[in-house]
Amino acid sequence: MNEWWRDAVLYQVYVRSFADSDGDGVGDLEGIRSRLPYVRELGVDGIWLTPFYPSPGVDHGYDVSDYVDVDPRFGSLADFDALVAGAHELGLRVVVDIVPNHTSSEHPWFRNALADPAHPDRARYFFRPGRDGGPPNGWTSAFGGSAWTREERSGEYYLHFFAPEQPDLDWHVESVRRDFEGMLRFWLDRGVDGFRVDVAHALFKAQDLREMDEPVPRTWHGDWLTALDQPELHDLYRDWRRLASEYPGERMFVGEIVLRNQESVARYVRPDELQLAFNFAFLNEHWDAEAMKATIDDCCTALGKVGAPVTWVLENHDVDRLPTRLGGGERGIARARAAALLLLALPGTAFLYQGQELGLEEVELPDDARQDPIFFRTGGERLGRDGCRVPLPWQDGPPGFGFTSGKSWLPMPESWRALTVATQTGDRRSNLELYRAALALRPRAEPLEWRESGEGILDFTRGNFRCIVNVNADDVPLPGVGLLLASDPDLDGMLPPDTSVWLRT
Ligand code: NOJ
Repeated sequence: MNEWWRDAVLYQVYVRSFADSDGDGVGDLEGIRSRLPYVRELGVDGIWLTPFYPSPGVDHGYDVSDYVDVDPRFGSLADFDALVAGAHELGLRVVVDIVPNHTSSEHPWFRNALADPAHPDRARYFFRPGRDGGPPNGWTSAFGGSAWTREERSGEYYLHFFAPEQPDLDWHVESVRRDFEGMLRFWLDRGVDGFRVDVAHALFKAQDLREMDEPVPRTWHGDWLTALDQPELHDLYRDWRRLASEYPGERMFVGEIVLRNQESVARYVRPDELQLAFNFAFLNEHWDAEAMKATIDDCCTALGKVGAPVTWVLENHDVDRLPTRLGGGERGIARARAAALLLLALPGTAFLYQGQELGLEEVELPDDARQDPIFFRTGGERLGRDGCRVPLPWQDGPPGFGFTSGKSWLPMPESWRALTVATQTGDRRSNLELYRAALALRPRAEPLEWRESGEGILDFTRGNFRCIVNVNADDVPLPGVGLLLASDPDLDGMLPPDTSVWLRT
């Protein structure tokens, strides 16, 4: 066993926005296949594909109406097979996204449940009578509003922690468990190297549907969602791990465990459960050295106790782009470059989100272009996630930037001319070349050891590799020898704030 997932870098492909092969303005599997050499040259170990299954697209694929097929918008099963084969030929792993917490309201199970209240499929969901003329309890949806929608015909309510078009499954029902095993096997048989499990801490709900103490404003993490994060999950993941281990090639699960408490996260990655859990700490961290150091220590200690690697994530399809979060403009870009060298120096597994390597900022979209249900369900109070999902600029300029020959599903900004893959390739000062260099030089196995450093600085070694990040201190002198890589190509003997370096010691 080489446990490849312990120190891999996986590149998240947001399928709608990566590359469009047929000119309909929406990315597809064939588009991805044609761009695999780019991913290979970047230097990552594999890709994670966001959902490409048949879906009405209310939550852009996280509302699945058939778990064992490809949405015609994205291609066919034959295209999927060709993509997996192409990736494997290039030595890239392929991880697919599964969405077990909820189906689409267009899934045959839910349609059956609505069509006939006596249908056995109704038991797969949470249909409950209302209380005092309202929903069964006060639970709210992560997308805004109540987590319950009234079904006109029966007068009962059904549960949806996300959009009403994403009814939650009841995982205490045996048929749900059995049918998902079949689904896992379907994709394992097709050669996938692993699964990303959507909202993996939420599948079972406490059966008494107890009220929860919701913080205001709602937090990014679900530590307060005490009716989720149920003990039954651990048996389920043990079963899945056993099932996947019947297949050759060390298939892997990475869970989307949206909890802040790392001891709680660690329970999901014990040796016989999921291999990895996304670590969302850095998505919500301020640019503050002491806070960052505490986070790194906290994650490494908690997961170290169960022998699991930590994962490091700076961007994904649900949060604002990193340079924007870190202040935007030149300062945001400088910090994002410094953070990239931190990300790829830390021990464990790293996830990159497409476009992160290009240094893309969050796009300000006009309201009439927005598509995220979060925007609509909160009456525009929360802008939602469209701004980080704008398709990738490959070359040239608007409207298609080489992403599509048609009209891209979200408008792409003129300013991205300077940031296309074609423009950045070969320019040693570019964000793309920084990522390529870092991915080639990144340390793998050696443990992290902190060095003494002043306030505002992160300084650690991994064997004879050293990473220094000046987060928010005054300029510090750099050692005269051993420079491997710098986030700012113009450094001159000093390391100013918002920059980082890698050294060979
Ligand atoms: C987490 C996914 O990352 C997000 O995009 C989606 O909206 C929710 N889960 C619901 O499936």
